[in-house]
Amino acid sequence: LQAGPLTGKQIVITAGPTHEPIDPVRFIANRSSGKMGYALAQAAVELGAKVTLISGPVALEAPPGCNRIMIETAQQMFDAVMQNLAGTAIYIGCAAVADYRPTHPASAKLKKSAEDDLSLQLRLNPDIITAVANAGERPEMVVGFAAETDDLQKYAQHKLQQKSMDLIAANQVGDGRAFGQDNNALEIFWEGGHKSLAEAPKLEIARELITLITERYHAKNSI
Ligand code: PMT
Repeated sequence: LQAGPLTGKQIVITAGPTHEPIDPVRFIANRSSGKMGYALAQAAVELGAKVTLISGPVALEAPPGCNRIMIETAQQMFDAVMQNLAGTAIYIGCAAVADYRPTHPASAKLKKSAEDDLSLQLRLNPDIITAVANAGERPEMVVGFAAETDDLQKYAQHKLQQKSMDLIAANQVGDGRAFGQDNNALEIFWEGGHKSLAEAPKLEIARELITLITERYHAKNSI
């Protein structure tokens, strides 16, 4: 482990999409590549943190020095996060967790029917970051992301409060932005503060965000 301002601190980071099975060969997912979450894991390791990276299915190698746990579904991500919460100082939810899953995934491949229309019944997944923020062993800092196509600030500030986060990093998505890209730009909000990070490679953005989170963490703990 490297020595730095996060030496000895345990950080849990989620990254990537979740896959929600429809049948053994099909699933519901989204366009997250994991790049942003993996960059955050690397940046946190660089500052000396002990990082557990809980990742959905992505085509990336684990950043050196972090403990990676691979999962597929939102429920599996929820379980892995909860199992790793004890002693965690900072939680960063960067994963694009599917809000819904097929209610009754089929055990055999679904056959094409004669009908033109097909309905899929969906059920709400557990909200991982809300559970983390309300856990008995709540990390001192709970950091979330907001991916929005419109009204970035309004929705981000609403999620910050609704999900009891300490800080939220909002990115504009749609029109080929953020999801899957090598670059990102963030609007970061916390109670009484705001910072904009202009478009840059995700590793640069990640280093700036981790530095800000570290400052907020130490400010909170020095009160
Ligand atoms: O992976 P990349 O291709 O690099 O793209 C990065 C990214 C765009 C996916 C990332 O920067 C990002 O914005 N991640 C969060 C995407 C998202 O799902 O946002 P949301 O607004 O739907 O969710 C808000 C927050 O709640 C997030 O912290 C999310 O992890 C969390 N959440 C959501 C649903 C759920 N069931 N459980 C959760 O914990």
